[in-house]
Amino acid sequence: MNRKALLDVLGNRMPERRPIWFMRQAGRYLPEYRQLRAQAGSFLDLCYAPKLASQVTLQPIHRYDLDAAILFADILVVPHAMGVGLKFAEGEGPILDVVADEGSVRGLKPIRDGNEVRAVCQTVSLTRYGLPAHVALIGFCGAPWTVASYMIEGGSSEERLRARLAAHQRPTWFGDLLERLVEASCDYLSAQIEAGAEVVQIFDSWAGDLTGDVFEETVIAPIRTMTKELRKRHPSIPVIVFARGAGSKHGRVAETSGAQAVGIEQAMELAAVLANMAKHCAVQGNLDPIALLAGGERLTSRVENVISEVPMQRHIFNLGHGIRPATDPGHVAQAIAAVRAMDARRA
Ligand code: CP3
Repeated sequence: MNRKALLDVLGNRMPERRPIWFMRQAGRYLPEYRQLRAQAGSFLDLCYAPKLASQVTLQPIHRYDLDAAILFADILVVPHAMGVGLKFAEGEGPILDVVADEGSVRGLKPIRDGNEVRAVCQTVSLTRYGLPAHVALIGFCGAPWTVASYMIEGGSSEERLRARLAAHQRPTWFGDLLERLVEASCDYLSAQIEAGAEVVQIFDSWAGDLTGDVFEETVIAPIRTMTKELRKRHPSIPVIVFARGAGSKHGRVAETSGAQAVGIEQAMELAAVLANMAKHCAVQGNLDPIALLAGGERLTSRVENVISEVPMQRHIFNLGHGIRPATDPGHVAQAIAAVRAMDARRA
């Protein structure tokens, strides 16, 4: 196989096989990841160590028959590169300096030429050299809303109340923060593309927090500005937008963003989403990560169920959200085998 199935689907061409990758395919469920992670020290040290981060990016490619590698880094690299203090406390998730007023937004730096971006781009270049010919390299960033929510809350938060309130009340600093993030994220993705990323994905993990015109202004508008700008700078690079929790609004996300594919959370039925989607846009997803965690015969039947809903030419097989750290690596192999077997039967 020499063609990249992922690029074929994103380019609206019939792929040689259904492309497969998994969100968080490099991570704690893999023993080889835990080993390198222990060597690197902290998670952030690992993100900024290009040789190690590139090895981590390649780990799932060596283990499984996948069609894409996703750069090993984090969406919080962007605020970090803008000068926001960031650390990952063991077992607690990220802790950031709070950015939630005019002064702190004004203090954010442009990210070009910073050490963080340089290190991540080096990981991209190193990884691109190490990939088999049929595997595509995906770069990524967080969407402005999701990244802003971590900056406003100073870390993970169950309800993101302060961030959601700001999205509704619209203080001047909130609009400015989104604008700064649009600009920094475009520069960040451009740098990854120049370093060798062949596809980019924008993660809006908390898109489902917002509704109505607040959703339009906070999720749709910034993503649309980004995709337009990226199209201008890199016309041939496809974009995947994952507005997790957008539900019935995925069709609108696809249409307004001009994305080549949209990621879909497991709560949705792919067939229903596809029915409302312009013909040139593919869907990515949406096996339930808990089905992958659980394994067994049910896993195979859930995979078959997902596949049966979408034609190969418009589907990128993935999860509805990231792999859970407790997942048995054997279950991932089982899911991939189930996709390949079912496609072979249907051919
Ligand atoms: O998908 C991949 O394999 C590529 C790497 C990747 C990571 N994070 C590595 C990571 C990607 C694409 C992300 C995206 C990311 N990061 C998102 C968007 C996707 C989603 O999950 O909704 C978000 C919201 C973050 C922010 C983040 N990073 C949090 C909240 C946490 C802590 C929670 C947790 O799972 O521990 C992280 C840490 C993180 N990012 C880990 C990994 C492998 C675990 C770090 C460790 O080794 O301890």
